[in-house]
Amino acid sequence: MLKYVALLLLAAVLAQKASAQEQIPVTLYYEALCPDSIKFFTKQLYPTLQRGVAKNIKLELIPYGRASQTRNETAGVWDFTCHHGPNECYANKIQACAISKIEGGRPSPNLGYNKITLAFINCLMDKVVINPFHLPIDDCATQSNVNNRAEIENCANHTDGSDLLAQLGDLTKVLSPKLSFVPTVTFKKTYKKADNDMSQVNFQNVLCSYITDKKAAECQTSGSNVVVNSFITTLVTVSLLASVKHLF
Ligand SMILES: *[C@@H]1O[C@H](CO)[C@@H](O)[C@H](O)[C@H]1NC(C)=O
Ligand SMILES: *[C@@H]1O[C@H](CO)[C@@H](O)[C@H](O)[C@H]1NC(C)=O
Repeated sequence: MLKYVALLLLAAVLAQKASAQEQIPVTLYYEALCPDSIKFFTKQLYPTLQRGVAKNIKLELIPYGRASQTRNETAGVWDFTCHHGPNECYANKIQACAISKIEGGRPSPNLGYNKITLAFINCLMDKVVINPFHLPIDDCATQSNVNNRAEIENCANHTDGSDLLAQLGDLTKVLSPKLSFVPTVTFKKTYKKADNDMSQVNFQNVLCSYITDKKAAECQTSGSNVVVNSFITTLVTVSLLASVKHLF
């Protein structure tokens, strides 16, 4: 009897550890060649998502910004005009294709985004040369372990990429109020000016403010709670394991 109680308790502890993480929906509206977007991506978003708090985000990337699109029904193609010119349309398409094609667009285990995609886009944002234009697709693919670089480039140069970018355009157009600053970050699908302003200088703080459950260490005002909690969990697990071992 005791043996089963111990097993049940052990299962409960392990289940709690493995339970679904609280994931805050975060949507980023940005442009591939926009200096403020590059700054936000490389200095706020990407560094924050290298920390423990990364498990608490459900990230949606929308590289479109102040572009516009018209459909040429005769040719059956989309025509885009991008904020920073045709090179930006191409760079946005590369990102749209990466988001869709890397590991089938699936998030990495226990995360609300794909780690390879995020690393690849961060590298492109960080290393792009505006004039003369150079998008280091090969270097970034190698550095970020992207194994379908050719598929992504092919997608960006064909209707596949145009269709994906047009979908991002549709998602941008329905934002309410209308996009007025690039980049714009929303939390839980809701635009708040204060959140967006603060995110440009301390994205992690805003993300932390939305997390209600089991905050990551970097979200604690003092780190002690997390240390105590994990110490207690470890203690309980170890003693249960010890008792189970004795019973069998
Ligand atoms: C639509 O595409 C056709 C065929 O490529 C072209 O001749 C025409 O000028 C395009 N129309 C517009 C409005 O761009
Ligand atoms: C795709 O298009 C870009 C920009 O128009 C061009 O520089 C590049 O060579 C093309 N890549 C492929 C694989 O066709």
